[in-house]
Amino acid sequence: MANIARFKSKSFPLEMHKTRVIQKLNLLPIEERLQAIEEAGYNTFLLKNSKVFLDMLTDSGTNAMSDRQIGAMLIADDAYAGGATFYRLEQSVQNFFGMPYFLPAHQGRACEHLLSKTFVKPGGVIPMNYHFTTSKTHIVQCGGIVEECIIDEGYKVNSDHRFKGNMDIDKLEACINRVGKDNIPFVRLEMGTNLIGGQPVSLSNVESISKVCKKYGLLFVIDASLLNDNLYFMKVYDPTCKHLSIKEISHKISSFADIIYFSARKLSSGRGGGIVLKDKALYDQIKVLVPLYEGFLTYGGMSSREMEAIAVGLDETLDFDMISQGPEFIAAFGEMAKENNIPVVTPFGGLGLHLDARSFLDHIPSEQYPAGALAAAVYIISGARGMERGTLSEDRNEDGSDNPADMELVRLALPRRVFTLSHLTYMVDRLAWLYENRRLIGGLQFVEEPKILRFFLGRLKPIGNWQRTLVDKFIADFGKDAL
Ligand code: F0G
Repeated sequence: MANIARFKSKSFPLEMHKTRVIQKLNLLPIEERLQAIEEAGYNTFLLKNSKVFLDMLTDSGTNAMSDRQIGAMLIADDAYAGGATFYRLEQSVQNFFGMPYFLPAHQGRACEHLLSKTFVKPGGVIPMNYHFTTSKTHIVQCGGIVEECIIDEGYKVNSDHRFKGNMDIDKLEACINRVGKDNIPFVRLEMGTNLIGGQPVSLSNVESISKVCKKYGLLFVIDASLLNDNLYFMKVYDPTCKHLSIKEISHKISSFADIIYFSARKLSSGRGGGIVLKDKALYDQIKVLVPLYEGFLTYGGMSSREMEAIAVGLDETLDFDMISQGPEFIAAFGEMAKENNIPVVTPFGGLGLHLDARSFLDHIPSEQYPAGALAAAVYIISGARGMERGTLSEDRNEDGSDNPADMELVRLALPRRVFTLSHLTYMVDRLAWLYENRRLIGGLQFVEEPKILRFFLGRLKPIGNWQRTLVDKFIADFGKDAL
């Protein structure tokens, strides 16, 4: 850990890297931003990136790569089978997780597909701390049922609990006793719980879950897609991890799990994913599906260049200076937002700053998608795109009714090493204006609504003409030439 004196009056994040390649940005005039979001059906996923100033949609595949990663891509060994690149990646994965078996996949959801296809049968119940969109949908597509066992504190937007992603062990045992262990294909733990604001899990909680799984003979599966941030929070806030290296913490986590899968798009600043296992029989059981759905066992849908970048990225994720950058920038962003009374999820988690749209837009009911409306309004006002993580991101119930999310969030993701403090200051400025003018924002309604994962491709329109009023107010306040 870098030993750098910080100013006492104000803590601020300090980058332990420098920028050597840049990409020019473009901030469109507000009228053009309004037109762009109209064309995108008020869905930030459907915006063209050329129309976006700060792309805070996700960190998935958008983290900045290091010089070592780019360098490694040049020595990639392109081979359908048995390429040297794969074995370098395998070694790096084994070093990172301390588990012997590795199956490559093209990204995180592909791992979820393979695991669900292998283990989930109709009626099977999968207890988990909290669902993620793609993990739940893959389970449901196989006829499975997700049961959330997160601690009550996890449902609170604002809390002092440092590990809001923890599983409630009593809820887990109650679930096992109710449905019977034979109806549970596996227990899933998401480290760095995405949909409740990137909230981490403590090491002792991982151990407790493992004990319960052992007691009932259940498979314990960890989703490590957001493990980088979780490792940071463990190192800084979990007293049992204080004296451990990042690698030791990672290996301790692995020692409790049977299977770990990850999206390398997030975990390693690379692009791809994979499943790591302890047990050869389980490896053999899943491995037969890899050539069918992903590609041969030594590439799994990834290009060899991507695999080289992941191999180096995983090594770098063991460096505290690398993994601290994300959470420390998010915390600085969050502190500035709080100073301006902008409602945000606390404690600040990983992945990005999470705006609390339920509080920001308390005049808009869940069925009018306050988080979706806020994400659209943020784009119109700032040119930055975030991602709706609320009721829009939940598919409808069987009876056609909306399934209101526990939290209505807009995530302003901070891909690692991409944005500067000035970008964040700009964002806080725009968000503060938007908060002052929040009553001008109205709801959204669907125009085109896919049945599955509707947030990706769904198209919406404003209820009323609030988007025009908002733009007119911005122009009245700042002048028609203001960006
Ligand atoms: N699990 C978690 C916890 C994730 O956050 C993601 C992706 C996945 C699995 C799926 O991985 O995208 O490689 O297929 N999260 C991205 C996000 C999409 O923006 O939050 P993938």
